[in-house]
Amino acid sequence: MDLFSIKDKVIVITGGAGVIGGALADGMAQLGAKIVILNRKEADAKAKAEQIIANGGTALGLEGNVLDETIIKTALQKTLSHYGNVDVLINVAGGNMPGATIGPDKTFFDLSLEDFSKVVDLNLKGTVLPTMIFSEPMSKKGSGTIINISSMTAQQPFTRVVGYGASKAGIDNFTKWLAVEMNQKFGEGIRVNAIAPGVFVGKQNKSLLIEESGNYTPRGKTIIDHTPMKRFGVPDELVGTAVWLASDASNFVTGVVVPVDGGFSAFSGV
Ligand SMILES: NC(=O)c1ccc[n+]([C@@H]2O[C@H](COP(=O)([O-])OP(=O)(O)OC[C@H]3O[C@@H](n4cnc5c(N)ncnc54)[C@H](O)[C@@H]3O)[C@@H](O)[C@H]2O)c1
Repeated sequence: MDLFSIKDKVIVITGGAGVIGGALADGMAQLGAKIVILNRKEADAKAKAEQIIANGGTALGLEGNVLDETIIKTALQKTLSHYGNVDVLINVAGGNMPGATIGPDKTFFDLSLEDFSKVVDLNLKGTVLPTMIFSEPMSKKGSGTIINISSMTAQQPFTRVVGYGASKAGIDNFTKWLAVEMNQKFGEGIRVNAIAPGVFVGKQNKSLLIEESGNYTPRGKTIIDHTPMKRFGVPDELVGTAVWLASDASNFVTGVVVPVDGGFSAFSGV
């Protein structure tokens, strides 16, 4: 038996058309998983699924706004009628919003509570809602795996991104809470874990990290200075941990948040 096999597992990835979700989808499709890409815009989800298929993988692209219960329930039904099963849910959709960030010349007292709520909803509710819907059939068959995406800012808050950090801290707590709930109510076959990526250059954060000249911004430089490996992560470097958490290799692992961060969380800065 290949301990790390994910072959033929049906793996649903929210935000699967994005940078990190897309890298997970590509990497897991190459290992024989059957991928479902959910993305807010259906066209983006379908385009990503077509790209995976063109590369020899198996994929389905579906509309999947993680804040819309009706749409996510429809996505579950379409997943079940297409593949007959769901084995793994990876909650990647999320991110920051400018209004929930304290600008360099602003303070906490300038925070827009409306934007704070929006970013907390996207990250936290946008993880809880798809989990509720996709883990229901898992609870009935007594097996399945949930993988959430946290962040370095959950445990050691980054400056400025107050709403984002609070919502990612909520994801860490929810990961542990649901791991216990699932084992207690539905048996040991359902596992819930999270990956906490270090800093990976994506569409959302690129301009905050790297100047047009190619040099690091002051914030980018601070992050590099606090990363023992002295670089940002490459999205493909998240695939191995996701495969481990999705496969039988991690059968006795639940309720953990695994840093994939080049040593960032281990380093005090001194
Ligand atoms: N890039 C990093 O350094 C980093 C570090 C830690 C955690 N993360 C987390 O990883 C995840 C992906 O980040 P990324 O850098 O790939 O960003 P990204 O913007 O490339 O990907 C996010 C994807 O989610 C989709 N999305 C947004 N709102 C949605 C909604 N309501 N419903 C469905 N899909 C929606 C977007 O369309 C996009 O495809 C996020 O949760 C982010 O917080 C990123």
